[in-house]
Amino acid sequence: MDYDIALDEISGIISKSKNVLEDVVGYLYNNFGKYSWIGIYIVEGDNLILGSWSGEQATEHTRIPIGKGICGSAAKTGKTEIIPDVNSDPRYLSCFISTKSEIVVPIKKDDKILGEIDIDSDVNDAFNSDDRQFLEKIADMLSLHI
Ligand code: SME
Repeated sequence: MDYDIALDEISGIISKSKNVLEDVVGYLYNNFGKYSWIGIYIVEGDNLILGSWSGEQATEHTRIPIGKGICGSAAKTGKTEIIPDVNSDPRYLSCFISTKSEIVVPIKKDDKILGEIDIDSDVNDAFNSDDRQFLEKIADMLSLHI
């Protein structure tokens, strides 16, 4: 799937949907094979709470303290994290045995961190700068709907 076409389609989904988070994670799961599990976490106080997700299995990490794991690190710094090999990052909180790499993209409005997009891949080193730019644009769109 071409990233620019996907951005147009996601923009359309966001403008029409009544369940924006659910529909965006579903779209990403259905159109990007290397995105094995997609979740959107929302900041609530000192924690990240799992909002919507799409993938084969539920995660036990539905509440992650800010500062813990890859997710909590990205929520603390406001910076995208790309982890090519999750098993060599000591911060990694394991969800699925099949996961090899991960990207976490904060959702921000005026420098305030509202939440994040978290994607696990069963492929080694799955995420490049195209994924980063693509997902950061989606995060900007979602910031108006959280
Ligand atoms: N791996 C994440 C936890 C969330 S699961 O990937 C769904 C982390 O290290 O924060």
